[in-house]
Amino acid sequence: MAKLILFTGKGGVGKSTVSAATALYWSQQGYKTLLVSTDPAHSTEDVLGVPVGHEAKYIAENLYAKNIHSEIRAKEFMNELQSGLDNSVSKWFPGLDPELLTEWAAFPGMDEVFALEELLYLVQGIEYDLIVFDTAPTGHTLKALTAPDALNTFLLRILRMKAKIEGIKTMFIKKNDTKKLVKVLEQTIDKINRLKEVLRNELYVTINIVSIPTEAGYQECLKTCNFLKVQGFKIHNVIVNNIIPSFDEDTWKLATSNKAVALLKMQHDAQMPYIQQYDTLTSGENINLVGVSKLPFEPRGSQLNAFSRLLWKERGMAFTPSKSMLIESDDESVIMRLSFPPSKDLELFDDGYSIFGMKYTFEKPLESDGLKVRKSKTQSGATYTYR
Ligand SMILES: Nc1ncnc2c1ncn2[C@@H]1O[C@H](COP(=O)(O)OP(=O)(O)OP(=O)(O)O)[C@@H](O)[C@H]1O
Ligand SMILES: [Mg+2]
Repeated sequence: MAKLILFTGKGGVGKSTVSAATALYWSQQGYKTLLVSTDPAHSTEDVLGVPVGHEAKYIAENLYAKNIHSEIRAKEFMNELQSGLDNSVSKWFPGLDPELLTEWAAFPGMDEVFALEELLYLVQGIEYDLIVFDTAPTGHTLKALTAPDALNTFLLRILRMKAKIEGIKTMFIKKNDTKKLVKVLEQTIDKINRLKEVLRNELYVTINIVSIPTEAGYQECLKTCNFLKVQGFKIHNVIVNNIIPSFDEDTWKLATSNKAVALLKMQHDAQMPYIQQYDTLTSGENINLVGVSKLPFEPRGSQLNAFSRLLWKERGMAFTPSKSMLIESDDESVIMRLSFPPSKDLELFDDGYSIFGMKYTFEKPLESDGLKVRKSKTQSGATYTYR
């Protein structure tokens, strides 16, 4: 399983820059990294300076990027559901208005749930060591994180309705008619529960808020912190971006005669109380606080490296990467260790594994080299021994 590092925050505070800089840094340290964005505004493209589509695209050594189009998957799901209903319940229950379904499903974050589902697939894979998730502005992400509950309620409502109808119409309705529908719903509920569990696993998931030293920035950050806490998520880092550095006394003295310096000093002074507030907030909540200066250039394209080093080398972000797969070998055997959180749903095959109904096949099965494989589950995942 890969590690997931997620950045959330209000619009325009630097989420895409911080995400891309993070992906760039860890890819340079030898971790195969995928930068994922759900933002329809293509901000990843802007920061990286290259086009990105919904297939993972090679950017540089160990660095890949992709966009997730969650509306497409959400539509597929609704169609699946609709056809399940057409074939069963609505046939026997003319009173059921298909519009009702659409209405029930129109809760905030429905689309984003499917982005998270795709994210779950990526995270449970071993193709990457690290998945960096650049989210759309706060509102959407918050919705996505609570949407599993909303979707669950929606699905349970349908299941309950189905049970009621079956209760009334047992004489007429054939059990088989509803089987497919129930399967779609139950699988989805299972997946959502798994998603909630994985997202709250601190060993694998690091959640960070990006913000700026202004009143609106602080208030939004405070709201997000409280929300995530209530939802049971641990926040690892709050990154306060766009800080005007404290220049030395001699520079600030120029403010009396130089309007550019005066302007900068005014901004610097205006930011100070908020930086203090961030400090109080994060130390109270045991969150790592990281400040990043406003740079005299746009940190993107070839300039992203400077931002990346500033953030990760000089500022002490709280995060430990790891490899999703380790290979050791001696004269007789090759041992491949995969890391997973303990799960009864993990199944091992000679050529791959499945976890929670999601199947993964190894790219180059080692037994093709004439070696026999022995596989076993361990405390921290799974071991495949080839000899
Ligand atoms: N520390 C910084 N110094 C100078 N410019 C910065 C800094 N951080 C970000 N920027 C610039 O600010 C702009 C907004 O940054 P970015 O696109 O990363 O924000 P965002 O939070 O992803 O925005 P959105 O919510 O629209 O997705 C970009 O032009 C970026 O280059
Ligand atoms: Mg962005």
